[in-house]
Amino acid sequence: MTRLIEASPHAIAEAASHIRKGDLVAIPTETVYGLAADARNGKAVARIFAAKGRPRFNPLIIHIENSTQAENFALFDDRARQLAEHFWPGPLTLILPRRKDNEISELATAGLDTIAIRAPAHPVARDLIAQTGPLAAPSANRSGRVSATTPAHVFEELEGHLAMILAAGSTEIGLESTVLDLSGDNPVILRPGAVLATDIATLLDTDVLNEAKESNPEKPKSPGLLLKHYAPEATLRLNAVDLEPGEALLAFGNTRFMGIRGGGAAKDLPDGRLANLSENADLYEASANLFKMLRGLDRSGTKKIAVMTIPDEGLGLAINDRLRRAAS
Ligand code: TXA
Ligand code: MG
Repeated sequence: MTRLIEASPHAIAEAASHIRKGDLVAIPTETVYGLAADARNGKAVARIFAAKGRPRFNPLIIHIENSTQAENFALFDDRARQLAEHFWPGPLTLILPRRKDNEISELATAGLDTIAIRAPAHPVARDLIAQTGPLAAPSANRSGRVSATTPAHVFEELEGHLAMILAAGSTEIGLESTVLDLSGDNPVILRPGAVLATDIATLLDTDVLNEAKESNPEKPKSPGLLLKHYAPEATLRLNAVDLEPGEALLAFGNTRFMGIRGGGAAKDLPDGRLANLSENADLYEASANLFKMLRGLDRSGTKKIAVMTIPDEGLGLAINDRLRRAAS
């Protein structure tokens, strides 16, 4: 059941306890409402994708208190520090290189080497983050629909898919944050928002490219399309029912009947060559493990990864979308 509650210190504390348990909470920000989960909890992050009905795993914005907290998982250069100093808290999302071995779920960043972070300005969001730590939060709408700017709109979109909506009236800006990619030499706007390219250019005293506009002004590319997706080094063979010699196995569910051609069983694979997305065939667990395990198998040096069949339903759709891209 989804409860819609006016934000108060008591309600925020309740929201924090839902987040700690791995449940979803809709939160007000100054831009649009967000659908938030503990960014360190992969299963909770998987719930976000299920709730939104996203047919694929797009990377999510990690909402933090300030740049000091963000430096634990993102690599700031001088430009990033200047921008954070000037525009945070506020409607600017920075794409920065992701630090290795940090506690943010790989699913939240869709396995990428970059991470999107922003410090929202809304006092309710800030209060909550102070109690929970970093929150992964896309806009609180079903996939393909417009972002929600009122609690009622969130309720309409997502009722039943989250524990609670922290209500705080209409959002001030009503438009999603500016997304600025700082992972390359030139800053690139991936999504225009309330922080303008000209403001950024002036502050940094440098050119700012506008990817959202440049390629075709009539038809702006969605940031999703501009993403360099994580792709494993190894080739993927999908819907495998057995193993070729030398292949690693990305399993799902029971591996008892996975044999190796010419002799042997999955359990005989050398260390690092077998990863099971979910022994209980739980799609939430599998989503949370997907990128982490693909990376792990890649590191084993294998040239080919056999992947067991994952049901094409619910989160399985997004898992299979990603696997097909990785396989092609
Ligand atoms: O105002 C906002 O940004 C709202 C509030 C809730 O903070 N959030 C929001 O999130 O609009 P979402 O998930 O609806 O949009 C995030 C955008 C997506 O287009 C995604 O592709 C892009 O940011 N993005 C996230 N991580 C990225 C990355 N590592 N590289 C490039 N783009 C990224
Ligand atoms: Mg959105």
